[in-house]
Amino acid sequence: MPVPKSNLYPDFNIVRLSHVEFMVTDLAASKAFYADTLGLQISYEDSETVFLRALEERNHHCIILRKGQKAEANVLGFKVYDEQDLDKAEIYFKEKGLPTEWIERPHQGRTLRTQDLHGIPLEFYARMNQLDPIHQQYKLYKGVRPLRIDHFNCFSTNVDESVAFYNDLGFRVTEYTEDEESKKLWAAWMHRKGGVHDMAFTNGRGPRLHHTAFWVPNPLAIIDLLDLMSTTGYLENIERGPGRHGISNAFFLYIRDPDGHRIEIYCSDYMTVDPDLEPIKWDLKDPQRQTLWGAPAPRSWFEEGTTFANTEISDSQLAAQPIVAP
Ligand SMILES: [Fe+2]
Repeated sequence: MPVPKSNLYPDFNIVRLSHVEFMVTDLAASKAFYADTLGLQISYEDSETVFLRALEERNHHCIILRKGQKAEANVLGFKVYDEQDLDKAEIYFKEKGLPTEWIERPHQGRTLRTQDLHGIPLEFYARMNQLDPIHQQYKLYKGVRPLRIDHFNCFSTNVDESVAFYNDLGFRVTEYTEDEESKKLWAAWMHRKGGVHDMAFTNGRGPRLHHTAFWVPNPLAIIDLLDLMSTTGYLENIERGPGRHGISNAFFLYIRDPDGHRIEIYCSDYMTVDPDLEPIKWDLKDPQRQTLWGAPAPRSWFEEGTTFANTEISDSQLAAQPIVAP
């Protein structure tokens, strides 16, 4: 299926991705990883949860760590433009036959809970508690100096279906790969906020969360993180990189948190706000699509991901591609 034409006037206005909630089996270990090693800032914590934000963010949280028995992702959060958009979102998802529920979420205003077509749990809100700016408090800059959450990447059992669903929500495709034989999409990168992506989908057993990415100021921050992780007991948590992606042109590093949730450290992709921006198509056989330069990705990177709470997973509808060292 070709990439659908962008929907420039969706039924409601999503501003950007906002936050993720992870279930973690050892809250202290996860807090040490995200706050002390990566350098995210704690905005609230109690015996069950830790809420964190990155250094440029005024919103209360971009990641919530919640103590639990099983390491999984509870929800992917998105910000909409205003309260009316939330009401329009409720009507939209109800008309799609998807479950909707208004939930109480600390530090957020009205929050609508629903799911996507494959069962990925989603929540939408318009207003989150606003905190004082800290982006010029340079004494707080440590670890990888994370500035903001950048994107989610998910395994999808049918990327064409995922792209059609999010396209209708107003997400616009910036780059994609296609299976040459079937002409079905293999992977796609889609944005709302004007970068290469807020959401990406890759063919695979799903739905599962492949990674959550944080934007950092420059590649040197990534090198500094590697020095830090390799000398503070986190050597085994470094999974892939550093390198530069062909797709997105970003400088990257993939690491795993203490429960195996994958985090990408990401910087320097490009602006995509033009409504007539043509998506870039990549050949699946082009090894530079994943790694413009850098070491090949390990098998774990292709196969492992975080399951979503209370969400069934199934095999992909496209046969697996042989793992080609990119
Ligand atoms: Fe990514």
